[in-house]
Amino acid sequence: MTTALVPGSFDPPTNGHVDVIARCAGIFDKVLVAVIENPSKSPLFSTEERIALLKETCSPYENVEFGSFAGLLVDYAEHVGVDVIVKGLRAITDFDYEIQMAQMNRNLSGIMTLFVATKPEYGYLSSSLVKEVGRYGGSIDSLVPENVATALKERFND
Ligand code: PNS
Repeated sequence: MTTALVPGSFDPPTNGHVDVIARCAGIFDKVLVAVIENPSKSPLFSTEERIALLKETCSPYENVEFGSFAGLLVDYAEHVGVDVIVKGLRAITDFDYEIQMAQMNRNLSGIMTLFVATKPEYGYLSSSLVKEVGRYGGSIDSLVPENVATALKERFND
């Protein structure tokens, strides 16, 4: 039984995130999607809200579970007992940072990170850009799942 850990901020989840999770669900026995609790970054959505959005979106995938963590990712990975960390890679700019984290995590605990190349159509997509576009009334419907688009519109109308 092989379990993959897919960590992230998911503030909010995008179609790019869901694509990576869906592909992991088809490869691994179990997928644990872990939302980082980052109060210092004052996320737009609380940890509970981000998990609820992910749960709704990923409901077709029966082997996907959800959790949250604070502190070091490797400590969480050891605590929950996963086999591998999986990250999506959009471009060379992601690679630069992600390879450092992967190697640091490997050094800290021995856990391996696998990279999934995102679909080319999601290469430009990021949660920060989605928030910026949504905040100023741009169209986000093709960038995020339907429930996330609704939640973003409600949040920006508040
Ligand atoms: O969606 P993001 O913001 O790219 O996710 C980044 C995340 C949460 C996976 C990364 O920042 C992380 O693992 N943070 C936990 C703290 C940690 O372990 N830092 C050391 C990494 S070498």
